[in-house]
Amino acid sequence: MYEKVLIVCASVHHNNTLNVAKVMGEELNAEIIKPSEFKSEMISDYDLIGFGSGIYNGKNHQSIFNLIDGLKVQNHKHAFIFSTSTIPVKVMHKSLKESLIAKEFHIVGEFYCKGFMNYSFTKFLGGLNKGRPNDRDLEKARNFARDLVKI
Ligand SMILES: Cc1cc2nc3c(=O)[nH]c(=O)nc-3n(C[C@H](O)[C@H](O)[C@H](O)COP(=O)(O)O)c2cc1C
Repeated sequence: MYEKVLIVCASVHHNNTLNVAKVMGEELNAEIIKPSEFKSEMISDYDLIGFGSGIYNGKNHQSIFNLIDGLKVQNHKHAFIFSTSTIPVKVMHKSLKESLIAKEFHIVGEFYCKGFMNYSFTKFLGGLNKGRPNDRDLEKARNFARDLVKI
């Protein structure tokens, strides 16, 4: 259904979210860029845009929000959200979802999974979620992307 797909991914801690973006990108034949590479005029070239990052203090990375703030209101442009985090729960996407809806994006899907983290005191434990995202997580991400195209 989608001809051109763009994935904007901020993966600053361990490339956890980038690894998810890559398998989604393979499945969707998408271009993957960092927020710093994004220009608002690019948006009209794509009919589906994925926004993804690790979760930092309960929400997606600030660079994703900054980028969305700079956009004009969209005419129900299709978008999806994804993340990796220590505790992968849907509520972590709440702020990003609200920002996208405020710009009149139409959110067609959300994906989240565990990501390795060794920030702060957790480094003394050898980190949390070792090896995540793992092959199983990546397979789920691939299936998520495959299902998006079926919609
Ligand atoms: C400064 C910082 C804050 C974080 N805050 C949260 C958080 O609030 N909730 C959570 O589940 N994980 C949190 N994490 C863990 C990251 O979301 C997780 O490691 C993620 O996979 C990082 O993705 P990335 O490698 O793509 O940047 C935090 C990590 C860092 C470094």
